[in-house]
Amino acid sequence: MNYIAQAMKILSTDIGISALRKRWAEHVARQDTVPEAVNKYGLDSRIISYTNNESVIAEQYKVLRTNLYALSPDKPIKTIVITSAQPKDGKTITSCNLAATLSFDKEKKIILIDADLRRPSVHAMFGLSRKPGLSDILSGNVDIKSFTKKPAINNLYVIPSGTINNNPSDIFITTGIKMIIEDLRKDFEYIIFDTPPVLTVTDASILGAICDCVILIVKAGVTQQSSIEEAFNMLQGAQARPKACVLVNTHFLLDAYSYYTKYKYSSYGYHSAEKGAKAVKKS
Ligand SMILES: Nc1ncnc2c1ncn2[C@@H]1O[C@H](COP(=O)(O)OP(=O)(O)O)[C@@H](O)[C@H]1O
Ligand SMILES: [Mg+2]
Repeated sequence: MNYIAQAMKILSTDIGISALRKRWAEHVARQDTVPEAVNKYGLDSRIISYTNNESVIAEQYKVLRTNLYALSPDKPIKTIVITSAQPKDGKTITSCNLAATLSFDKEKKIILIDADLRRPSVHAMFGLSRKPGLSDILSGNVDIKSFTKKPAINNLYVIPSGTINNNPSDIFITTGIKMIIEDLRKDFEYIIFDTPPVLTVTDASILGAICDCVILIVKAGVTQQSSIEEAFNMLQGAQARPKACVLVNTHFLLDAYSYYTKYKYSSYGYHSAEKGAKAVKKS
């Protein structure tokens, strides 16, 4: 893990800490009372960077945005692939929230593309239809311009996955996808791809090779160290650029930590949480 930590920059570690998890749960539970604008657009309330932009969780996505700017100040990153080792690690939710956070800048247009043609879900997050979408553009049935006329929210445009074909990977090895990226680069400041897991199919690795940066989502308490290493090696082997890593689900770490400080260190005479924190860090 050490060499991966060195090679990739940890962008954010706080999303999902136990207090936030509570708020998250409360937020989801209150879906029926979300602001009018949200109901109007039919957004999933887990796009919290838009639905509750002042929240503590939204703040963490702003940290992610800042760190993204800092990742490559000389040559700004424009095309981003978001992936993880396995399914259900938080790729889609991170993609949607990062895109939403970036879209508050009125000067910059952002486009989020659902390139997970096997388990597409970006359309559902934004209350859109799954098709037409990316696969239909690539097969020449739909003009890309139909997706770049009207933003879904703020300055964010969305291309859903589209019609599902038998061999989704095939479309990523065509020159069409490169042409789409070149075309979008002219108009958009950021092009973000939500993709399938690296260890399951090659799609993210192929896309990663033609994009500026791959962000690997790591789910605390779920993603195995060996899977992170394997995913990292696969991306590098495909000439993709895994430049950053986002740790989600960190309540897992902090729950274990608070248990430790509460029950273990108190018996050794540490009374304040702060002292407990120092002791845990040392060990
Ligand atoms: N930052 C996060 N912290 C905690 N849980 C998360 C986070 N992001 C996503 N999840 C949870 O992980 C599950 C899978 O999320 P999703 O984004 O659909 O994953 P993927 O796209 O990788 O399959 C969902 O149940 C979601 O609530
Ligand atoms: Mg997904």
